[in-house]
Amino acid sequence: MFIYLLITAVSVSVFYLWKTFKYWENEGIPFDKPNIPFGSLKSLMTRERSFGMAIYDVYNKYKYPFLGIYLMFRPAILIRDATLSKTILTKDFPSFHDRGIYVDEENDPFSAHLFAAEGQSWKSLRNKLTPSFTSGKLKAMYPTILETAEKLTNSLKEQLPKGGSKIIEIKDLMDSFAIDIIASVIFGIEIDSFKEPNNEFRMAGRTSNKPNFLENLRGAALFLFPQLERVFKLLNIKGETQEFMKKVVKETVEFREKNNVVRKDLMQMLIQLRNSGKINEEDDNWKFQTVSEDLKSMSMEKLSGQGFLFFAAGFETTSGTASYLLYELTQNPELRDRVVEEIEEVLAKYDRKLTYEGMQEMKLLDKCVMETSRKYPGLPILNRVCTQDYKVPESHYTIKKGTPIIISLMGLHRDPEHFPDPLKFDPERFENNLYNPSAYMPFGEGPRNCIAFRMGRVGAMTGVISVLSNFNIECKEKRELEIDNYSIAIVPKGGVNIKFTRK
Ligand code: HEM
Repeated sequence: MFIYLLITAVSVSVFYLWKTFKYWENEGIPFDKPNIPFGSLKSLMTRERSFGMAIYDVYNKYKYPFLGIYLMFRPAILIRDATLSKTILTKDFPSFHDRGIYVDEENDPFSAHLFAAEGQSWKSLRNKLTPSFTSGKLKAMYPTILETAEKLTNSLKEQLPKGGSKIIEIKDLMDSFAIDIIASVIFGIEIDSFKEPNNEFRMAGRTSNKPNFLENLRGAALFLFPQLERVFKLLNIKGETQEFMKKVVKETVEFREKNNVVRKDLMQMLIQLRNSGKINEEDDNWKFQTVSEDLKSMSMEKLSGQGFLFFAAGFETTSGTASYLLYELTQNPELRDRVVEEIEEVLAKYDRKLTYEGMQEMKLLDKCVMETSRKYPGLPILNRVCTQDYKVPESHYTIKKGTPIIISLMGLHRDPEHFPDPLKFDPERFENNLYNPSAYMPFGEGPRNCIAFRMGRVGAMTGVISVLSNFNIECKEKRELEIDNYSIAIVPKGGVNIKFTRK
């Protein structure tokens, strides 16, 4: 009996795999020959590559404008063509408005955050949250970002011997910098991760970006097999970071409501949204009205989900941009000196104080941030799901509703066809228009692009300015940074090691 059952189970599995991996052949479009049972993601499963880098390898293998791939057993389409990518994200957005990752608004409101929310629910949330990220609101939060930058420079000074130099791993410090900014401007909680590296926020950051195979697999599964997350939930397997965020948000909201606290941060705006259904458009109105629980427009779980997302989406991307930029400047000393000169000129103009306005005048530094986001896109892939059958322009193929769509930002940004000599760190390419603008999308594109791109840019720039105005940086070794094999974001293998000397 057992033998019969075993034979039946094996036959059904073999038939399932055979049928699954025939999908793209039957559809009649070019496809990446699958490695059964991992499809196009063998290097992810063997821990050689992260998800984004495994997709980058597929991008580099072909020249087709789009092709079929297998995200393990899940047929998906990789868009390689820059114009088609942009069209899908912008003009034809109505056919691709969702990401198709795990979300269960009814039973798990925490999951219904902006990144995962779908359809009308996403649209309404996006409209409501947009006023939180205007440049006016960011300017109001800027003093807090500056205070955190001061902690960063103090920490670096403390680590350096008097009059001497030291090699410091800057990515870890920039993680602390980005986490402290987020804790303060989003949650309104003052922490000092430089002095207390084991505080709960900093620990949550470490949990979410440490090379833990199972946690990382769970992260990738949100994209690959959204249904699997339901199984984790049924089994009551909780994510540590999620549980921590729920606790922090609940305590913060209750404290503010009880004590009528007014702070210029994102939590304040989320409370406005929860209590009145909208965020005040005026940049100087931060107050909220306390209303009874039954009149609130958003559950505490859903509000915590937004907080968690801002933390997860904001810290690694911001700290990565600042760290990669500093590293590239050590590799290009002539450029580094010009950037330092620009910073000094602007600081001299503003009484040696860094201001929001002054930072906008640092044009070369701005180009360096653009070039860093090109060479090291914070998120190496963009993803959408096809929400209605879509005839691909200038092709006979119709993408079927429900098909996952992947765009390799790493692939586009490092493609010599779009960016000549792609490994060269060359901010001037943006000055001289020596690139293909359709292929440049570090913050995504269209209605679902990064809602906080200004905050990411300003955070990274401020970190870099603080370092360059206080320290000389160099790196004797000339080499390309390697990308590690875990995380959805791109993580530098072995960190970013730079020699620091006090000015
Ligand atoms: C340099 C820093 C950053 C980079 C490179 C970056 C990049 C991105 C990218 C590529 C996307 C996907 C866009 C798409 O699919 O078209 C995204 C989405 C998003 N980002 Fe950022 N980001 C950064 C900073 C931040 C920060 C600081 C926050 C929040 C505090 C944030 C919050 C979000 C959210 C909420 C979304 C989802 C938007 C939606 O689906 O409507 N990001 N980001």
